Amino acid sequence: MLVLGIESSCDETGVALYDTDNGLVGHTLFSQIKMHAEFGGVVPELASRDHIIKLPQLINQLLDQTNTSKKDIDAVAYTQGPGLIGAVMVGACFATAFAKSIGVPALGVHHMEGHLLAPMLEDTPPEFPFVALLVSGGHTMLVDVKAIGQYEILGESLDDAAGEAFDKTAKMMGLPYPGGPLLSKLAQSVDASRFTFPRPMIDRPGMDMSFSGLKTSVRNAIKKEVENETFDEQCQKEIAFGFEHAVCSTLSIKCKRALEHTGHKTLVIAGGVSANVRLREQLGTMCQSKRSKLFYARPEFCTDNGAMIALAGALRLNAGQSSTQSVDVKPRWPI
Ligand code: KG4
Ligand code: ZN
Repeated sequence: MLVLGIESSCDETGVALYDTDNGLVGHTLFSQIKMHAEFGGVVPELASRDHIIKLPQLINQLLDQTNTSKKDIDAVAYTQGPGLIGAVMVGACFATAFAKSIGVPALGVHHMEGHLLAPMLEDTPPEFPFVALLVSGGHTMLVDVKAIGQYEILGESLDDAAGEAFDKTAKMMGLPYPGGPLLSKLAQSVDASRFTFPRPMIDRPGMDMSFSGLKTSVRNAIKKEVENETFDEQCQKEIAFGFEHAVCSTLSIKCKRALEHTGHKTLVIAGGVSANVRLREQLGTMCQSKRSKLFYARPEFCTDNGAMIALAGALRLNAGQSSTQSVDVKPRWPI
């Protein structure tokens, strides 16, 4: 079965073809980052309009690149939510109409399920059951993944998502949008810091998390350095290091608890923040100490992309889920 995947929940337009026998056939992505950068964040209306323009272009490009004809496609999977309502609506309407025009089923999939399954696009995929740490710009959660569609949330952030904390902290440091990866780059340019920030909620039992207090601590530290006229490049790097270290340590402690709680020996990390090098290193060390294995996707499949949606759709259809005729998007949708 050949599935066309369409992702349009935020500021990336992604399309991909996934073959259930041969794996990923191809994918293309357009990032709207440049367009939103001058506003310091995603402008929902601009995002929707651009998805309308880019979707047909990217699909034609993908079909050309992979020598695929429309009649080879057996199903269309699209992000049904969560996300920006207009952006999700564009993808859902386009996918449903496109599927109808070529006479194949259309299936709406959960964006976070796409992230969760993305590491399965790699040559050595994780096997069920596993613990998944989903860390993106909108969500931070630990999930006990027993099989496709069998997800139990073990804990989640009670306030900011980890990616959101990265982006907001980067903004406070004067870095351009989207600041998360830039902040991480700064952090990587030093290997020590005079700043130690709190590791939120590690003293409390359970697997819930919180990142807004950490953000406030960083804000106070920046304020103090600015007042003392010591907020220079080196100081910026050390603050970035201290912040990243606090986030990664907190996530590592919570992941360790999740492995102990479930007894699983596999940890999967997914979502934009799973591209973070320090997080991968720190979780790798923790997993080694627990004789567990760590899996993640290549960086381009950590952030939003069409391949993860094509894969999630293919696995859902294989598991017997039927398609939907109507367009029913879900801007908020628990996994
Ligand atoms: O999964 P994603 O592309 O979109 C959502 O579904 O939210 O995640 C985007 C988030 C942004 O907050 C971005 O700053 C963060 O992932 N991110 C990173 C890195 N790469 C992306 N955060 C820290 N380190 C990175 N290397
Ligand atoms: Zn995402």
